[in-house]
Amino acid sequence: MNILVTGGAGYIGSHTCVELLKAGHEVVVFDNFCNSSPEAVARVQKIAGKSVSLVKGDVRNREQLESVLREFKCEAVIHFAGLKAVGESVEQPLMYYDNNVLGTVRLLEAMEATGVKTIVFSSSATVYAPPQYLPLDEDHPLAASSPYGRSKMMVEDILRDCYRAHPDWKIALLRYFNPVGAHESGLIGEDPDGIPNNLMPFVAQVAIGRRERLNIWGGDYPTPDGTGVRDFIHVVDLATGHLAALQTLTEPQCFAINLGTGTGHSVLDVVKAYEKACGKTLPYIIAERRPGDIAEYYANPAAAKRKLGWEAQRGLDAICADSWRWQQMNPNGFKP
Ligand SMILES: NC(=O)c1ccc[n+]([C@@H]2O[C@H](COP(=O)([O-])OP(=O)(O)OC[C@H]3O[C@@H](n4cnc5c(N)ncnc54)[C@H](O)[C@@H]3O)[C@@H](O)[C@H]2O)c1
Repeated sequence: MNILVTGGAGYIGSHTCVELLKAGHEVVVFDNFCNSSPEAVARVQKIAGKSVSLVKGDVRNREQLESVLREFKCEAVIHFAGLKAVGESVEQPLMYYDNNVLGTVRLLEAMEATGVKTIVFSSSATVYAPPQYLPLDEDHPLAASSPYGRSKMMVEDILRDCYRAHPDWKIALLRYFNPVGAHESGLIGEDPDGIPNNLMPFVAQVAIGRRERLNIWGGDYPTPDGTGVRDFIHVVDLATGHLAALQTLTEPQCFAINLGTGTGHSVLDVVKAYEKACGKTLPYIIAERRPGDIAEYYANPAAAKRKLGWEAQRGLDAICADSWRWQQMNPNGFKP
């Protein structure tokens, strides 16, 4: 199948491109590189031994999307392009609604105009915040505590409305838990600009010596060791989840599915596993809780197994080993 991958140069997109190429699909990456580098796509080609078509463009540009969908005869879209920093979304909500919500509307218009009816969308477990019960299943009430989370909820609603209006569309809404790790080749991985927002790249940068120590936000949560608990999913497992979703979309439908492992690990569990992977002691301090952070959440992955025939394969040790390999081989990320 010819697949348009918006945001395909990014962290999750690049890993998904590898799996799509391995499965025999043709891939067109469409990315404006606002948070990524074309080098990631070069590395994807190296890993897969196949070429990728790369178009620099913004998903808010409907005309350009239409011509790309036509030129490459795309049959499906995987839509990763978007901004993802929760804190930044609180400070600049309009930028998030413009990029994440209006960008998706422009993309859907381009799909409608060109007759492309299959889309897999990157949603997020933030649509369950704050959790009312655990583990989080897909029937959990939807709510969001930031403009970022609301942008994901809005796009989910828009896609459900599109399906009501066009019941011949095939739509998968994938709610990711906490993507971490890197490709086992060490060639692609997460490459945050500036100070990492997420735990794993921060730990990796402490391990490589780019940062002095880790700040753990909150040590007094009602969790076994007092630190926050999350459902960390290896990015390659997440990538294969997209392949499983595409394979499930043989008939018109619209569904939402969690992509998580079902197991929660605390921040201190991650630090210990990373210390084992890198063979060093990682300095950290326990700081104040961050406002808005949640003590604990993890997925109920049963529906993913039932519906997609997919479940995560890789545990925390593999996650840390792969992250460390990527960090060691690329101490400055994709920059030379
Ligand atoms: N990483 C996470 O923790 C996480 C969790 C849940 C959901 N998600 C969602 O998954 C998707 C991918 O996340 P990621 O971690 O790979 O992020 P990322 O920033 O690495 O990748 C996003 C890609 O989209 C591109 N992009 C952004 N705006 C664009 C635009 N207007 N036009 C074209 N390209 C644009 C960026 O340059 C980047 O390459 C995002 O939609 C994100 O919200 C991520």
